[in-house]
Amino acid sequence: MPDRPYVIDQMISAKSIAARIEALAREIKAEYKDTEKLVVVGLLRGSFVFIADLVRELDLPVEVDFLEASSYGDGMESSREVRILKDLRGQIENRDVLVVEDIVDTGHTLSKVSEYLSTRKPRKMKSIALLDKPSRREVDFRADWIGFEIPDEFVVGYGIDFAQRNRNLPFIGKVRFT
Ligand code: IMP
Ligand code: MG
Repeated sequence: MPDRPYVIDQMISAKSIAARIEALAREIKAEYKDTEKLVVVGLLRGSFVFIADLVRELDLPVEVDFLEASSYGDGMESSREVRILKDLRGQIENRDVLVVEDIVDTGHTLSKVSEYLSTRKPRKMKSIALLDKPSRREVDFRADWIGFEIPDEFVVGYGIDFAQRNRNLPFIGKVRFT
């Protein structure tokens, strides 16, 4: 599949992403303004660019941790079965937590991960996704904050991959097979 030739058409510019993150960070700071410590949990690997830009806009006492859940493998379809491949290093019991995801697509990943983390009794746990494809949803799940709603297109860039490629693009683009 990755050997099929494709081009990438820009969908969201680096500038629009930066502006949206500033606005989201203002809302998150207001929500957690009295926090002793906010544990920002990035879902590997697609959220690594987003989390890096987001935390630099949050002037709160922040800790960063990561969790990896299985999802797509190298294809374009969700496996629907979510497994935890790498767990958090730190504790979240009684902590304020923000889970950071790249895309909510069918919704299985973020809903399962949220369920899993809630069993550790965080004080307040919310989630943010850079992108949301509401037309693809299979489970009833909404992130608390969304960067952009997008149509049912396969996208890459800004941390997001197609079979591990194109994560380093500074913008979000859609894959078009040629
Ligand atoms: P969900 O469980 O179907 O909501 O899938 C979410 C995960 O699928 C995200 O964390 C992404 O890793 C991956 N994903 C969903 N849509 C895309 C896409 O358009 N491009 C690349 N990865 C995607
Ligand atoms: Mg992912």
